[in-house]
Amino acid sequence: MRIDIITVLPELLKSPFEASILKRAIDKGLVEVHFHNLRDYTDNKYRQVDDYQFGGGAGMVLMIAPIDKCISKLKGERSYDAVIYMTPDGETLDQKMANNLSLQKNIIILCGHYKGVDQRVRDAYVTKEISIGDYVLSGGELGAAVLCDTIIRLIPGVLGDETSALTDTFQDGLLAPPVYTRPADYDGMKVPDVLLTGNFGKIEQWREDKAHKRTEKLRPDLLE
Ligand code: ADE
Repeated sequence: MRIDIITVLPELLKSPFEASILKRAIDKGLVEVHFHNLRDYTDNKYRQVDDYQFGGGAGMVLMIAPIDKCISKLKGERSYDAVIYMTPDGETLDQKMANNLSLQKNIIILCGHYKGVDQRVRDAYVTKEISIGDYVLSGGELGAAVLCDTIIRLIPGVLGDETSALTDTFQDGLLAPPVYTRPADYDGMKVPDVLLTGNFGKIEQWREDKAHKRTEKLRPDLLE
């Protein structure tokens, strides 16, 4: 998979890809992530990427020309399955969306800034608009990092234990059951007996039961 991220702040985005699972996925060649600084696609002396909005009002708007140049260059090199725009008024990211996107080959992620991008960018180039939640970030970069993390960890071979993404919270529409590790007894705080029995049928049943109970208690909306 290849992900091209268009941003005015590449430095804000890079560190999540330089550690842990995302770094490992890149090092293994399972995903390529490329950053494109929008200012490199300007043709004015000040590398200006934003301007005042027509009609007046507070806040700057990212201009269409540099975005067009960047997207057109990328599209001239390969075809893309999606051009995603990170925005608080997009469709809310969930596990199902991450699963679908992890199956794509090439995607572009455009990060908004200030008041957002010129509407003509959204009309002409963007195929999907994604929000990471009902709150406003200073820009799309942190949202793009969250989106990339959810997608990349689902690519086969990225997680050491292939099955571990399948047992994540939300993957079967439920919250994950509780987990424990050694010691089995810490100052009188004990691990549930069933987990120490070695009876995998019983353990699976217990986990399912706990997942249901936890979901009923904490996220009843997931069961509706
Ligand atoms: N840009 C600003 N707020 C955002 C959000 N909640 N999700 C995605 N991109 C954003």
